[in-house]
Amino acid sequence: MRVLFATSNQNKIAEAKTSLGLLGYNVEQLLIDGNPPDFIEPQTDEIEIISKSKIQQSLAFISGTEFEGSSILVEDSGLFIEDLGDFPGVYSSYVEKTIGNKGIIKILDNISNRRAEYRAYSILYENGKYWSSLGICSGKISTEIRGFNGFGFDPIFIPDSGDGRTFGEMSQFEKDSKSHRGKSLRILCDELRRPSK
Ligand code: IMP
Repeated sequence: MRVLFATSNQNKIAEAKTSLGLLGYNVEQLLIDGNPPDFIEPQTDEIEIISKSKIQQSLAFISGTEFEGSSILVEDSGLFIEDLGDFPGVYSSYVEKTIGNKGIIKILDNISNRRAEYRAYSILYENGKYWSSLGICSGKISTEIRGFNGFGFDPIFIPDSGDGRTFGEMSQFEKDSKSHRGKSLRILCDELRRPSK
């Protein structure tokens, strides 16, 4: 089945292809006239509200195009650091581009609680119905940048379910088996496959 992923983040697309590809889904980027659509992000701290709004906007974008009737996937994610009151949360993308990994490590310099979690909220729109799921990956922020794989905060995020390496030190396949995105997409697929669907 074809799923159009409404995102401009190529890393997310690569990861969704790994997770959903294993389950028989064919993930493609949603492009309108060759470009990813520009979304208006509602001003809120609620990740679910942002994702739902992007589905509504995507449906409006594809209305009357060759994509009308396709399944649409939207995913919003972020890094939530416990001792910083869940910062950067929904501002993760901005924080990544501005202060980056070095900045996060600096902020946590004198803080002993380095607990953090990644959250990914996915919504799939298919045949007039919405399916949503939340995937959480708990872990902690490392004291130094380690590894070159993944993207964003991966070189400073150590998942609890691993062996002490950061996501930046893991293969995409390994990250997918533990990550918030992998979990969220697998929950979504399980829901879709339920007979009562
Ligand atoms: P979004 O595109 O608005 O959902 O922002 C997601 C942002 O959260 C990314 O730009 C990263 O800064 C961060 N993020 C989310 N998931 C990951 C991940 O798997 N690895 C690293 N950073 C992530």
